[in-house]
Amino acid sequence: MKLLQKLVIVLLVTFSCQATAQDAKMKSFIDALMKKMTLEEKLGQMNLPSAGDITTGQAGNSDIAKKIKEGKVGGLFNIKSVVKIRDVQKVAVEQSRLKIPLIFGMDVIHGYETVFPIPIGLSCSWDMDLIKRSARIAAIEASADGINWTFSPMVDIARDPRWGRIAEGGGEDPYLGSQIAKAMVTGYQGTDLTKNNTIMSCVKHYAMYGAVEAGRDYNTTDMSHQQMYNTYLPPYKAAVDAGVGTVMASFNDVDGVPATANKWLLTDVLRKQWGFTGFVVTDYTAIDEMVGHGIGDTQTVSARALMAGIDMDMVGESFLTRTQKSLKEGKVSMARIDAACRRILEAKYKLGLFDDPYKYCDENRAKTEIFTKANRNEARSIAAQSFVLLKNKNNILPLQKSGTIALIGPLADNKENMPGTWSVAADFSKSVSLLTGLQEVVGSQIKILHARGANLDEDSLFEDRAGMFGKSLRRDSRPASVILQEALDIANRSDVIIAALGESAEMNGESSSRSNINIPAIQIELLKALLKTGKPVVLVLFTGRPLVLKWENENVPAILNVWFGGSEAGYAIADVLFGDVNPSGKLTTTFPQNVGQVPIYYAHKNTGRALEEGKWFEKFRSNYLDVTNDPVYPFGYGLSYTSFSYSDIKLNKISLKGNQTLTASVMVTNTGKYNGKEVVQLYIRDVVGSVTRPVKELKGFQKIELKAGESKTVSFSITPDDLKFYNYDLKYDWEAGDFEIMIGTNSNDVKKAKVNWTK
Ligand code: BGC
Repeated sequence: MKLLQKLVIVLLVTFSCQATAQDAKMKSFIDALMKKMTLEEKLGQMNLPSAGDITTGQAGNSDIAKKIKEGKVGGLFNIKSVVKIRDVQKVAVEQSRLKIPLIFGMDVIHGYETVFPIPIGLSCSWDMDLIKRSARIAAIEASADGINWTFSPMVDIARDPRWGRIAEGGGEDPYLGSQIAKAMVTGYQGTDLTKNNTIMSCVKHYAMYGAVEAGRDYNTTDMSHQQMYNTYLPPYKAAVDAGVGTVMASFNDVDGVPATANKWLLTDVLRKQWGFTGFVVTDYTAIDEMVGHGIGDTQTVSARALMAGIDMDMVGESFLTRTQKSLKEGKVSMARIDAACRRILEAKYKLGLFDDPYKYCDENRAKTEIFTKANRNEARSIAAQSFVLLKNKNNILPLQKSGTIALIGPLADNKENMPGTWSVAADFSKSVSLLTGLQEVVGSQIKILHARGANLDEDSLFEDRAGMFGKSLRRDSRPASVILQEALDIANRSDVIIAALGESAEMNGESSSRSNINIPAIQIELLKALLKTGKPVVLVLFTGRPLVLKWENENVPAILNVWFGGSEAGYAIADVLFGDVNPSGKLTTTFPQNVGQVPIYYAHKNTGRALEEGKWFEKFRSNYLDVTNDPVYPFGYGLSYTSFSYSDIKLNKISLKGNQTLTASVMVTNTGKYNGKEVVQLYIRDVVGSVTRPVKELKGFQKIELKAGESKTVSFSITPDDLKFYNYDLKYDWEAGDFEIMIGTNSNDVKKAKVNWTK
């Protein structure tokens, strides 16, 4: 045996011995602790209330404090500030009988006080280091403020833009979604959870939540196991493989049983098939909500949840109040209670809370590590990478840093909406509006005129619903015609118009489903009026979901989709509009022509009556009478200020056998005037399978940077592992045959080659 191999083996054995020794130490610590615990105290660990009434300095007197002292609380969430958290932790470790520290959770979804783009935006960077870095900074800031557990990442595959929570995930594709899941989990947790700046991650919402029927939040899902295993489950599994500490069950039902009571999902798949060893928490009051689902009364559903594999009950408190009776009646087992309690204690142990319950309560860190200049700078640069340039006719963009600009629209001067949905720790007063961003970045060189032009929506009640959580758009009560005329006056005095339109932050996210996914009509009226002035118009589009942009794509010369870019969005948008940063984001969801095409996604099946590429209607083909099958913008699409050309694909072999490696390469050339980044995408089609297969599936991507005029060869190594899928019997394997290899700039625009692969 070679020396190096021997060394590797010795190291592996040493590491695994150390891990076993640490596990044994943890086990004996928890064994000893659990021996002292009463049944009530065990159930207390399994209880996760929302902090609710705790105010600074008053922790000891709150209702929650009473429960903590009685050992009825395992963790808390919705509590912000290191001072409050220290106070509450003090109650737990000084006044409860067993002094078990609490775990403190929060929805740190895309940043803490320094807010990064909403997850769908982050995913459009296709840059895993950048995504990981955003999670790392979020963990540093959150942990500096007392938080040690985040309810993130949300990895629900979503193919229905009516569903508002599409904003919170990484888009429609399982391969990309899995990479993002891994990047985020490792960003939060780091390699060492005992450090005081790493926090435990909670992957959610397990499972299939993104497929709720009709895109209506909390609705039912119903799909084949094939579809689950091949499309919806991979990102959750990737998070588990990356070592995620906790999992959150979803609200929806799966195969007729709510995920929260679904033993197949929580035990057979998660634990037995995937080997997950952390704890599972419910979503908010999800146990009690199973009464609404109609599968029993509170007593019944809490017993079902526990026996299915739920370890911690978020907010509902039915574990706390019902389990003793269920135990007496033989409806739940002591073994399940012990296992649940043990897993929660293990999480606390792994976080180092038994060694030092105040580990995350360093007030000095809170003062120096949150919303720092350095973090904000990173957020600004990350935000710019998330924007997707959808259209740029005649290279209107980037704009000149001279002349007069009219900035118009309900989202032009609103800092509260910039962080986007789920920015619970943000201080909105500190985020940067587009107007401020423009003024600070280019204000000394250009003249900026500003007017609202239109409210978010004609209907003030709709606007109230779309402006919750302190994210009001401060509706203008003047008549619409007056608001519009004011905007037209400044538009006519300008050289270029920037129209800041689209959704407000709370028009997407939880419980923000829409049946109409257009830009609200009143804003379109404004846009039409602006176009009529004859001045060049740049649409800066705010959205948390794919919108129907058919008319906009046909009529507006430039469209930059900025999602919700976070606390530094205003600066980042200015950076991109004026060319200091060349946009490089690519869509991770398909943008439909109308809502009737939904669900629409690139990796669809062929059917037996596929329409020929590039054609429209043909009788007895799988198509529509009134619209082509094409999207407005396909998955993977996004422009740059420069242009790229792709050579044909070069293959090292066209016939392969067994475990050989196929190398597929293309030469990519920057044919434009600017340096730029390009996401080179690899898709594969399994031409013949034992089951129907998608027309293409993303199997790799590389983000490269090319100077103007520069060329680079981009190579992908493909092995049979990349060809594997779950077959009819849910066996994960590859099948011999023909494969189409596709490489290109988006899922629609690819070069093609063919190979044959035998076993
Ligand atoms: C959401 C979760 C979130 C939880 C706690 C629920 O309503 O579905 O995503 O983590 O609340 O805030």
